[in-house]
Amino acid sequence: MRPGLNRFLAINCLLAVTVFAFSFAGLTLLFIMGSVDFLPGFETALGHRFWLKLMLALGLAILSAFAISQIQQVWRGELDKAYAAKSRFEAVLEHIVSGVMLIDTKRRVLFLNPAAERLLNLPAGSVVGRDISEIICTDDFAAAITAALQTGELQEVESTLFCPEKKNLRSYISSFVERGSAGGLVIVFHDITELKRLEQMRTEFVASVSHELRTPLTAVRGFTETLLEGAMMDQAKAEHFLKIIADETRRLSALIDDLMDLSRLELKRANLNVGPVDLTHLVTETLVGLKPRLDKAGLVLVVDLPEATAQVSGDRDRLRQVLLNLVDNAIKYTPSGGKITVRVIRLTEKARLEVTDTGRGIPTQELARIFERFYRVDKARTRSQGGTGLGLAIVKHIVELHGGHVGAQSEPGKGTTISVTLPLVKR
Ligand SMILES: Nc1ncnc2c1ncn2[C@@H]1O[C@H](COP(=O)(O)OP(=O)(O)OP(=O)(O)O)[C@@H](O)[C@H]1O
Ligand SMILES: [Mg+2]
Repeated sequence: MRPGLNRFLAINCLLAVTVFAFSFAGLTLLFIMGSVDFLPGFETALGHRFWLKLMLALGLAILSAFAISQIQQVWRGELDKAYAAKSRFEAVLEHIVSGVMLIDTKRRVLFLNPAAERLLNLPAGSVVGRDISEIICTDDFAAAITAALQTGELQEVESTLFCPEKKNLRSYISSFVERGSAGGLVIVFHDITELKRLEQMRTEFVASVSHELRTPLTAVRGFTETLLEGAMMDQAKAEHFLKIIADETRRLSALIDDLMDLSRLELKRANLNVGPVDLTHLVTETLVGLKPRLDKAGLVLVVDLPEATAQVSGDRDRLRQVLLNLVDNAIKYTPSGGKITVRVIRLTEKARLEVTDTGRGIPTQELARIFERFYRVDKARTRSQGGTGLGLAIVKHIVELHGGHVGAQSEPGKGTTISVTLPLVKR
C-alpha cells in the first residue's frame, strides 16, 4: 500500500476513535450522574451529591482536555508530514530533468513541470486547460494517447518536434486513478535528440568504413582473379597487377591502423604520456626528417619560430603526429614550386602552431567539414593520393585531448592554413 494512503487511513481511524471516545465519555458521565442519585449513602445529603457530581464532571473535563490536546498534537504531526511530503514531491517535479505532464480523460492539460515546459518550448503556465493535441500534434502520439485512455496500459512513443529547432522526444504514457475512477494520464518526456544524433553518426560511420574497406578489397579481389585467370603467365602484367595489390593492401592496413588509433582517441583510452614539450624544439627536430620528401615534391619549407620557448604540457609523440599530419597534407595538396610555412606563435596563455601552404586551397563551404572522419574535398583525387581521410580527424582528437582547439583558413587556388592552439604551461 502507498504511504499516502496509509496516512489517510490512519487519520480516518483516529477521527473515528476520537468521536467514539467523546461519545463514550459523555455516556459515562450521564450514567455516573444518574448512579450518584441512587447511591444509598447520599440520598439525604444533598450537598455531598452536588460536590461529587461537580468533581466527576471536572475530572472528565480535564481528561477530555488532555485527550483533545493529544489528538491535536497527533493531527499537527500528520499535517506536518503531509506538508513535507507535498513539498518533497513538488521539489522532485521542479528539478527532475524529464518532463512530466498530467492530462485528464478529455485530453486537457492539468499540470506540467518546468522541464516539460522547456522540452516542449512552452511559455510558463500557458497550456493548462489546453488540449494535448494542440501541443504535440503527431499521429503516433495521438494514437498512443488514445490507446492509453482505452486500455490503461503503458504506452511508449517517439516523436520529432520542430519547436523551433528539431527535437526528438520519447514519451511514456500511463493512466492514473483519482477517487476510484480513471483520472487521466501521466506523460513522462525524455529528450533523446543527442541519442538520435549519435545513432545517426554511428550508422553513417559504419557505412563510410564499409565503403572505404570495400574499395581496396574490390581492387585486390579483381586483380587476383585476373591473375588466376591467366594474366599470371604474362610477367609484365603480373608484376603490374601485383604492385597494385601490394598498394591496395598497404592502404587497407593504413586505414585499419588509423581507425584503431581514432577509436582509442575517441574512447579517451589513448594513454597520453604527458610532460613538458617545447613546440619550437618539436618543430625543428620533426622537420629535419622531411627534407628529402619536400625536395622530391619540389617544395620550399620556411620555418618561423619565436625567440622564446613555447612550452606546452602534452604527449611529445602525439604532438609530433599532429605536426606530421598537417605537413603531410600541405605536401600532398601543394603543387611543385609551392611554399610551406611552419610557424609557432606565442600568445598570452597559449601557443599556436600554424602550417600554411600555397596549394590548391579548400572551398569555404567545405572548410568546416575537413576535420570530420573520411571527409575529403575532392574524393576521387585525394583517394588516389593514398589518403584515408582520417588524418585531420585524428589531429582534432589529439589536440582536444590536450585541451586545445583546431582551426582552418583557406582561399581556393591560393593556399591553406591549418592551426592548432594549445595552452602554454603556467610558470
Ligand atoms: N593543406 C590542405 N590543402 C588542401 N586541402 C586540404 C589540406 N588539408 C586537408 N585538405 C582536405 O581535407 C581532406 C581531409 O584531410 P585529412 O588529412 O583528414 O585526410 P587525407 O589527407 O585525405 O587522408 P590522410 O590524412 O588520412 O592520409 C583532404 O582529403 C583534403 O581534401
Ligand atoms: Mg591528411
